Amino acid sequence: MSITIKTEADVQGMRIAGRLASEVLDMLTAHVRPGVSTDELDRLAHEHIVRVQGAVPAPLNYAPPGYTPYPKSICTSINHQVCHGIPNERALKSGDIVNIDVTVIKDGWHGDTSRMFIVGEGSIAARRLCQLTYEAMWHGIAKVRPGIRLGDIGHTIQTFTERQGYSVVREFCGHGIGRKFHEEPQVLHYGHPGTLEPLVPGMVFTIEPMVNAGRREIKELGDGWTIVTKDRSLSAQWEHTVLVTEDGYEVLTVSAGTPAPPQLAPG
Ligand code: MF3
Ligand code: CO
Ligand code: CO
Repeated sequence: MSITIKTEADVQGMRIAGRLASEVLDMLTAHVRPGVSTDELDRLAHEHIVRVQGAVPAPLNYAPPGYTPYPKSICTSINHQVCHGIPNERALKSGDIVNIDVTVIKDGWHGDTSRMFIVGEGSIAARRLCQLTYEAMWHGIAKVRPGIRLGDIGHTIQTFTERQGYSVVREFCGHGIGRKFHEEPQVLHYGHPGTLEPLVPGMVFTIEPMVNAGRREIKELGDGWTIVTKDRSLSAQWEHTVLVTEDGYEVLTVSAGTPAPPQLAPG
């Protein structure tokens, strides 16, 4: 398969899926408090997606080659967990940071987005990591327009992040998205300017940098899904689904509760 170019009708479907995914995060926000379990957040999200939205949680039973079927409807990655954390019965506690990653399928189209949540009172280091990762994602999004290349996106995310003394995870990346959850191309969050695929209008892909406070190395836990930092340093991630338009970009994963874009320093 190659990169799919979405028509205006396709984009209309993806706007709906993107908004629904974002609205699940809006709905969960008030529930992310000390004492709640990630199983409870998963249950709330599942019910909302299926009963209120009439949509499908894409992660549930998702089984790419070499993986066992993913057992839950959302991913919840806490503290040193980088991504693909599996909801469980343990309660969140004040000071935890948690990424909640939601992907819904509506009328065959996927919308994929994640945000960081700080549970109760977060440390300065935790807040800084979450904010910086948000800015890293937006540095990538802000570059998007026809003619730039995927390497330009990766490069801007990597240089911004590493300049602040943080590291970018290499093993996982953004991805094309549409009728399928993970399509071509891979959207690396590191790289060299002027390299890789040039962007053209109608491409849709995610930008979802994972940033570690310590070293970039990761390992997979025995559950076959959860990824953690090797040095147990904190890790954060944000994700949007983005359309390449004629003159720039449109973020598709937007809803009433979407955090505002940050003020980015030029460069
Ligand atoms: N939502 C993740 C992404 O951004 C993928 C999760 S795969 C799952 O690509 F099976 F863990 F849900
Ligand atoms: Co994604
Ligand atoms: Co995701």
